[in-house]
Amino acid sequence: MKKILITGGAGFIGSHVVRLFVTKYPHYEIFNLDKLTYAGNLENLKDIEASPNYHFIQADIVDGDTILNLFKKHQFDGVIHLAAESHVDRSIENPLEFIYTNVVGTVNLLNAAKVIWKDNLTDKKFYHISTDEVYGSLSDSGSFTEETPYDPHSPYSAAKASSDHFVRAYHDTYKLPTVISNCSNNYGPNQFPEKLIPLFIHNIKNNIPLPVYGKGINVRDWLYVEDHALAIDLIFHKAEIGKTYNIGGNNEWKNIDLIKQLIQIMDRKLGRPEGASLSLITYVTDRAGHDLRYAIDASKLKNELGWEPTVIFTEGFEKTVDWYLNNNEWLQSIVSGTYKNYIPKKV
Ligand code: NAD
Ligand code: DAU
Repeated sequence: MKKILITGGAGFIGSHVVRLFVTKYPHYEIFNLDKLTYAGNLENLKDIEASPNYHFIQADIVDGDTILNLFKKHQFDGVIHLAAESHVDRSIENPLEFIYTNVVGTVNLLNAAKVIWKDNLTDKKFYHISTDEVYGSLSDSGSFTEETPYDPHSPYSAAKASSDHFVRAYHDTYKLPTVISNCSNNYGPNQFPEKLIPLFIHNIKNNIPLPVYGKGINVRDWLYVEDHALAIDLIFHKAEIGKTYNIGGNNEWKNIDLIKQLIQIMDRKLGRPEGASLSLITYVTDRAGHDLRYAIDASKLKNELGWEPTVIFTEGFEKTVDWYLNNNEWLQSIVSGTYKNYIPKKV
């Protein structure tokens, strides 16, 4: 019986990772540690919360004493660390929160693992989930490899980059058995509706203007969230200690093209005339420090561990729209809370 700690399991990606591990590995005990910030929602895990191998711990990774005590009590064998402040716009408003959670929180977890595992590193692994944003911004060509130098521009990506450096430092200095992956933009069910796709689905449905930053020419690579969870499963079990892998969808979209595609799907599903919602597009002041383009070279992960995305974008995108339309209660319960105060600032 392995004991696996998954941090941030009540969030978007974390909930998909928790579900995969709880259902695929009934012989593992899965501990989901989450502070339940505005982005953490236990509704995301309703279907598996009664599973005998699932445990929820509400805790803040910034609280080092509590984290160490939890490691002492449960003696985790592995850590998959997803807990983070994850929204770039919020990091521009409040960088400190990002430093506390993403940097201090990560170091608290590293430290606890170092203390608890000091006498026996066999079969232990600390897996840190990071982002392609640490590599900075690309112009029209090229893609990020694992060797691309770090060049973060937002407080969010600077904090994630810092946490990646600490993970490597704990490996190099204390021989902590770490691995890191850096993934591109995820999409799919359960994403908090402040991020582009769920926000715009909500706005189109409710005829609310769509705030397109700048000229809408920024490019992102999109990966279906369950494919990310599968990559995490593979890397956690198969990656050699000390390695880093990039994860991507090989699926680049200019924001405005993605938005127009979304409008086309939504108008069809909502029974509106084709293109009816195009008038909702509203160009607004650009995000400060807005990275132009991200693109991932995930060939190392394919060549070494055999991972490739399985979900075709057109299918994943339709499925995602359907999920938000069919889970209106989930969306409304969020939109009527904290998030409500966030919209007027943007449009
Ligand atoms: P999210 O914002 O949806 O979820 C984050 C979770 O972490 C929430 O459940 C929240 O309650 C929890 N959390 C935040 N602060 C905490 C703290 N101090 N202590 C304990 N728990 C805390 O984020 P996400 O989009 O699911 O991203 C998960 C991870 O994946 C992050 O590390 C992020 O940097 C990384 N990532 C995200 C993407 C993406 O497209 N969303 C892409 C690449 C990497
Ligand atoms: O690349 C991986 C990263 O992807 C993750 O590390 C982050 O946690 C995740 O939030 C995401 O960051 P982005 O900033 O790329 O995602 P977001 O959904 O906020 O924005 C996607 C693009 O859309 C970006 O170019 C900004 C633009 N945008 C976003 C919002 C919310 C708009 O034009 N209008 C908006 O209202």
